[in-house]
Amino acid sequence: MRILTGLQPSGELTLGNYIGAIKQMVKYQDEYESFIFVADLHAITVSQDPKELRNNIKSLIAIYLASGIDKDKNTIFIQSENIYHANMSWLLECLTPYGELGRMTQFKDKSLKHQNFGAGLLTYPVLMASDILLYDADFVPTGIDQKQHVELARNIAERVNKKYGDIFKIPEPLIPKDGAKICDLVDPTKKMSKSTENPKGVIYMLDKENVIRKKIMGATTDSEMEIRYDPETKPGISNLINIYASLSGLTIPEVIEKFKGQNYGTFKGEVADLVIKTLIPIQERYQEIINSHELDKILDEGRDKTLEIAKKKYLDLRNRMGLGR
Ligand code: TYM
Repeated sequence: MRILTGLQPSGELTLGNYIGAIKQMVKYQDEYESFIFVADLHAITVSQDPKELRNNIKSLIAIYLASGIDKDKNTIFIQSENIYHANMSWLLECLTPYGELGRMTQFKDKSLKHQNFGAGLLTYPVLMASDILLYDADFVPTGIDQKQHVELARNIAERVNKKYGDIFKIPEPLIPKDGAKICDLVDPTKKMSKSTENPKGVIYMLDKENVIRKKIMGATTDSEMEIRYDPETKPGISNLINIYASLSGLTIPEVIEKFKGQNYGTFKGEVADLVIKTLIPIQERYQEIINSHELDKILDEGRDKTLEIAKKKYLDLRNRMGLGR
C-alpha cells in the first residue's frame, strides 16, 4: 500500500502544515510505501519571486528530514523535476468538466483574493489529481482543506477508468482526527495559513522559542473560565485543545481531564511548552541539514525513481487515448 503527499513551497511552513501533513507522514512511514514531494508547480499558481521560491524548495526538503521523514523509508522528490506530472495533468484537464473546477471552494476563495490570476489557479486541482494518480496512491495524508481536492481526484479516476479501462487506483484522504484544521490564534474561526497577513495568529515551524510562547499566550480565547471543547462557541480554547491533543497523542477528553479546573493562563503555558518541545529539536536538526550536501543525493534518487513509475502510468493513459503513434 502506498501513501503520498505534497506541500507547497510558498512560504514558511506552519504548525498546521506540520500537524495536518508532515506528522502523519512520519506516523505512517513504517507501515506504507511513502512518497513525499515539494509541490513547486502548485506554488506558481500565484506570483512567486524566483530566488525566494528556490530557497523555499530547499528549505522544505530540509524541514521534511528534520521533522523525522526518513530518507530510507520515503521517496522524496521535487514535483517540477518529474515532467510527467504536468503532462498527465494536461490529459486529465481535457477529461475534467470546467464546471467541476469552478466549484472548488479553494478556487472560489483564492480567485477573490488575487487579481489577474492565471488559468493554473483553476486547473490546479487536476495537477494535484495527477500527483496522486500517477503513483497509485492508496492514501493521501492531508488536512481537511484538501479533502475536496482528493475527492476530485477520486472522481477523475473513476471517470477515466470507466472510459478507458482500469488505469487508476481510487485514493482515499487520510485526515487526522484532531488536527484536521488547526486554526489561526488571533481569529480562531479561520484556518492557520502561511498566507495570513497577521503573523501573530500563525506559528511558523521555524519561529523562535520566545516568539512561539508569546503567540500562544496571546491567543484569542473567550470570557469564560472553563477549559471545554466546543468549536462553535469556544473556538480559541478548542483550537488550543486540538493542538495539545495532536502533539501529545492524548485524546480530546484526556486533554480536558488533564487540565480540569486550571485557568486559561496555565493551560496556554502548557500548550506553549509542548509546541516548543516539538519544534525546537526540529529546528536544531534543520540547521544541520540545510547546510549539508546530502539533499542533492536524496533528490536525485527520488527524481529517478519517480520518473520511472510516472512515465509508465502516463504512457498507459496516453496510449489508451490514442495519442502519438
Ligand atoms: P498546502 O501547501 O496548502 O498545505 C500542505 C498540507 O498542510 C495541510 N494544512 C493544514 N492542516 C491542518 N491545519 C491547517 N491549518 C493546515 N494548513 C495546511 C494541508 O491540508 C496540506 O495537507 N494542494 C496541496 C499540495 C498538494 C498535494 C498534492 C497534497 C499538491 N499535490 C497531492 C496531497 C497530494 C496544498 O496546497 O497544500
